[in-house]
Amino acid sequence: MRGQRKIAVIGAGNVGATCAFALASMKIGNIVLLDIFEGFAKGKALDLSQNSNILNYDGQITGTSDYADIAGSDVVVVTSGFPRKPGMTREDLIGKNAEIVEQVGNGIKEHAPNSVIVVVTNPLDLMTYHMQKVTGFPANRVVGQAGVLDSARMAHFIALELNCAEEDVSPMVLGGHGDTMVPLPRYTTVGGIPITQLMDENTIDAISQRTASGGGEIVKLLENGSAFYAPGSAAAVMAESIVNDRRRLIPASCYLTGQYGLEDVYIGVPCIIGANGVERIFEIELTENELSSLQTSGNFYKSQLSDVLGY
Ligand code: NAI
Ligand code: 2OP
Repeated sequence: MRGQRKIAVIGAGNVGATCAFALASMKIGNIVLLDIFEGFAKGKALDLSQNSNILNYDGQITGTSDYADIAGSDVVVVTSGFPRKPGMTREDLIGKNAEIVEQVGNGIKEHAPNSVIVVVTNPLDLMTYHMQKVTGFPANRVVGQAGVLDSARMAHFIALELNCAEEDVSPMVLGGHGDTMVPLPRYTTVGGIPITQLMDENTIDAISQRTASGGGEIVKLLENGSAFYAPGSAAAVMAESIVNDRRRLIPASCYLTGQYGLEDVYIGVPCIIGANGVERIFEIELTENELSSLQTSGNFYKSQLSDVLGY
């Protein structure tokens, strides 16, 4: 494995370190962990490296604060930024995290100009847009992680309700990574059967609502910081699909150019993720209500882009 694939993870905090751990478990390449605090990144990398014998992982995991070390990365996962605290929305993080994304984006542009960027930093859809603008990368090479996580949350609540295996649930959550996200029960199946045939409407509504506030539920419980195990793994799944050109069909925050009546905005839609990042976006059939929810979500982020970020 040495000298082959390379994945950089920016931000060695909770999500970044968990993502690096998941990547090492997948054994897909060498990992560089970059943080503004060099010792923090080096310490986490050393700890993760000492897990290699246990995981039977032969790659290198290095810690750094120097962007020169991310050169040659196939994928850069960006997790640097402040997480929210109880009472905060993801949007409350805009100002501080936009500055961080700008700094990180410039580093990636200079040192890993051919990489695909997977943004995780919140508010996700806005920071993904900002990253694309800062780097000037083609839009397919900048994608945001939200749908894998939000769908996994929905899947878990469905598995709990039906008392069935998690792996048989195939969920679908579109829209922005925030209060306007759009769980799609009609496209969510268990063993190939839409959940609309497996549970009543009230139960589905409750699951959709719990999914939409899934991140907030954890923020409240933790009292200091936000979720990281599932988010870190979700980002690793996207990185793996890119590095191995797996072409997973998943929901992710993509740049829209008219699909679903939305343009010049990043929002969660079904897409194929492969070596070139977003290989293809699918425009699926939606009911009037579903489409209107997706458009409300997209338009909310569009207004935030202009009103708060000045785009
Ligand atoms: P954390 O505070 O544990 O880690 C953030 C790390 O970023 C810290 O180690 C910090 O030193 C580093 N950092 C800050 N500024 C930097 C810079 N300019 N350059 C390099 N590194 C820098 O936070 P956590 O829990 O890891 O969350 C990270 C971000 O991910 C937050 O914005 C959070 O809201 C977001 N998030 C997004 C999710 C999603 O589904 N898209 C899910 C969970 C978290
Ligand atoms: C989450 O959904 C806070 O975005 C983070 O857990």
